[in-house]
Amino acid sequence: MGRCPAHRPSPSSAAYEKAFARHPGADGALVTSPTPYGAAADLTGIADVCHRRGKPLIVDEAWGAHLPFHDDLPSWAMDAGADICVTSIHKMGSGLEQGSVFHLQGDRVDPAELASRADLLGTTSPNVLLYAGIDAWRRQMVQYGRELVGGALELAVRIREAVEAIDGFHVNGAADFCGPGLAADFDPLPVVMDISELGTTGYRAADWLRRNHHIDVHLSDHRRISAQLTHADDEQTTARLRTALRDLAHHAADLRDAPQVTVPSPADLRMDQVELPRDAYFAQHTKVPAAEAHGRVAAEMITPYPPGIPVVLPGERLTEPVLEYLTSGVASGMFLPDAADRRLHTVRVVAES
Ligand SMILES: Cc1ncc(COP(=O)(O)O)c(C=O)c1O
Repeated sequence: MGRCPAHRPSPSSAAYEKAFARHPGADGALVTSPTPYGAAADLTGIADVCHRRGKPLIVDEAWGAHLPFHDDLPSWAMDAGADICVTSIHKMGSGLEQGSVFHLQGDRVDPAELASRADLLGTTSPNVLLYAGIDAWRRQMVQYGRELVGGALELAVRIREAVEAIDGFHVNGAADFCGPGLAADFDPLPVVMDISELGTTGYRAADWLRRNHHIDVHLSDHRRISAQLTHADDEQTTARLRTALRDLAHHAADLRDAPQVTVPSPADLRMDQVELPRDAYFAQHTKVPAAEAHGRVAAEMITPYPPGIPVVLPGERLTEPVLEYLTSGVASGMFLPDAADRRLHTVRVVAES
């Protein structure tokens, strides 16, 4: 396999400009940045495109809780001018699971409207431990954030060099992620390793690391595994990781002949949105065998997890390359938590009258 960008091309501000020209009625823009692979979009440019039209920019910054606390990291969404960003404090911060927050600034989104939407989805019995965890993280970062995140960044430089030196490993860096048509910036804390030269898949390598070294990687896909460093890591945790990865390289021969995943080009991952997601989701639906689903309109979301970015949304017309990607992926170890049939023998589609 040749080297290829580690993720779909990152949307540029020019792409948003074009999308608004095609869909002038769009109410705003939503961007996931950074991705779980650490690729960050040009949020300042995208915010500018939105704001010239008086539209809000919403950023899914689930993987960016640490970004505000060190200048060597990509800008966080609020500094880049976004109107809202949603952040998981339990991912790159020290919050307890479910400790997600949103930030709001400016006057394009009415705070009362936003609070009312949050009330629709939230519990009436908030967990005070969650709030305490969020507040303790905030305090820790205000007091020691630069030092702690700086320590993690230095650790990342060392572990990236050490892993790159292991035969069969290539650590994805800015050169793989950033450039014209690709990401604008890059967070080095997700140590994303391309292991295709070992002749196995990330799925198989992840299972092996869990079984043999009790290490859960942050992410695995058809050709990569990623170890997510945070401010909580130190020389001890990275030494354990290094030992495990060297051992993985020694055992690569045992992991070969993994079923291959048929990965489409970024263009082939795009499908036509022929119905509104809401209409397709609530429409009468039926199950069809995956082999017969091309051309039908999806009535469900299908998301390989990790990384948790939907490949199929309700209302999209299913294509062969996408179905082939998902079915070959499942055969290889891909996990689809939100599909009605997680093995994808069948797909939920809009019923034809
Ligand atoms: C890009 C992205 N957005 C959102 C989420 C969900 O975040 P939360 O755990 O706060 O619900 C995830 C989870 O992995 C994610 O990767």
